[in-house]
Amino acid sequence: MKRVIVVASGKGGVGKTTITANLGVALSTFGEETLVLDADVAMANLELILGMEGKSITLHDVLSGDASIEDAIYEGPGGLKVVPAGISLEGLRKIKLDRLEEALETILQDTDILLIDAPAGLEKDALASIAAAQEMILVTTPEVPSISDALKTKIIANKLGVDIIGVVINRELHDKTFLTIEEIETILEVPVLAVIPDDPEVSRASAFGEPIIVKNPKSPTSNAIMQLGADLIGEKYQPIEPDKKGVISKLVEGLLGRR
Ligand SMILES: Nc1ncnc2c1ncn2[C@@H]1O[C@H](COP(=O)(O)OP(=O)(O)OP(=O)(O)O)[C@@H](O)[C@H]1O
Ligand SMILES: [Mg+2]
Repeated sequence: MKRVIVVASGKGGVGKTTITANLGVALSTFGEETLVLDADVAMANLELILGMEGKSITLHDVLSGDASIEDAIYEGPGGLKVVPAGISLEGLRKIKLDRLEEALETILQDTDILLIDAPAGLEKDALASIAAAQEMILVTTPEVPSISDALKTKIIANKLGVDIIGVVINRELHDKTFLTIEEIETILEVPVLAVIPDDPEVSRASAFGEPIIVKNPKSPTSNAIMQLGADLIGEKYQPIEPDKKGVISKLVEGLLGRR
C-alpha cells in the first residue's frame, strides 16, 4: 500500500526536518521506495541536511508546467529520492491544484512511502502539507510548550481526517524537569513511536550535508531512527553496536586534542 506520511509539529525547531531526512534514508535502507518532499518553503532545510541544495528544478517548475515531475526528483543518500519544493504549497493549491495532485499521483506510482517535511505551526503552508497526507508523525521535544503545540496540531489533523501514527520525542536529555514518555502519551493520546537523544552530532552531521544516519550509523541516535523506520513498515531491526575500540581511540584522540 502506498503511504503518504507528513512529519509535523506545532512548535518550530523541534527536529521535523532532521527526522524526515534521516527516516527517509532509513526507509530506503530497508528497501522501501521512499521520496521526501520539502514542504517548508521558507527554510528549505531538507536539501541542506541531505547535502543536495541548489537544485535547479523544483516542484514549482513542475507545477508551472516548465518541467516534468521526473526532472524534479533527485537521488539522495541510500537511494532516497528528494523533491525540493521551491514555492508555497498553499499558493500552488490555489493556482495549480490539478497539477499538484497529478504530480503527487505520478510520484506515488514509483514510491512506496512519500514523506512530507511540514513547516512548523498552523499557517496555510503547514495546513496544506497536513491535508495532503493520510498519516502523520508528530515530532516534539519533551518540553511542555512543544507538547502543548503538538496537541493543537493533532487536533487540526484529526479534523482533517489524517491518521496520527504517533509521536517522536526528539532531543531527550533525561532531565527531570521534562515530561516522561507516559505523561506525553497521556496528554497527546497517541503512542510514543521513538525517543531520540539530544545529540550534538546531529547538527554537526547536518552542517556537512550528511544525515547522522549516514555519518554515524552506529550511534544511539541513528539506531533509534532505524528502529522507528523498521516499526513503521513492520520490519525487524537489530541495532548496530558501537565499535568499542573506535570509541576509545576517539576519546584518546579527543584528549590529545587531535579532533
Ligand atoms: N536529536 C537532536 N539532537 C541535537 N540537535 C538536534 C536534534 N534534532 C535536531 N537537532 C537540531 O535542532 C535544530 C532544528 O532541527 P530541525 O531543523 O530538524 O527542526 P525543524 O522542526 O525542522 O525546524 P523548523 O520548524 O524550523 O522547520 C537543528 O540545528 C538540528 O541540527
Ligand atoms: Mg524544518
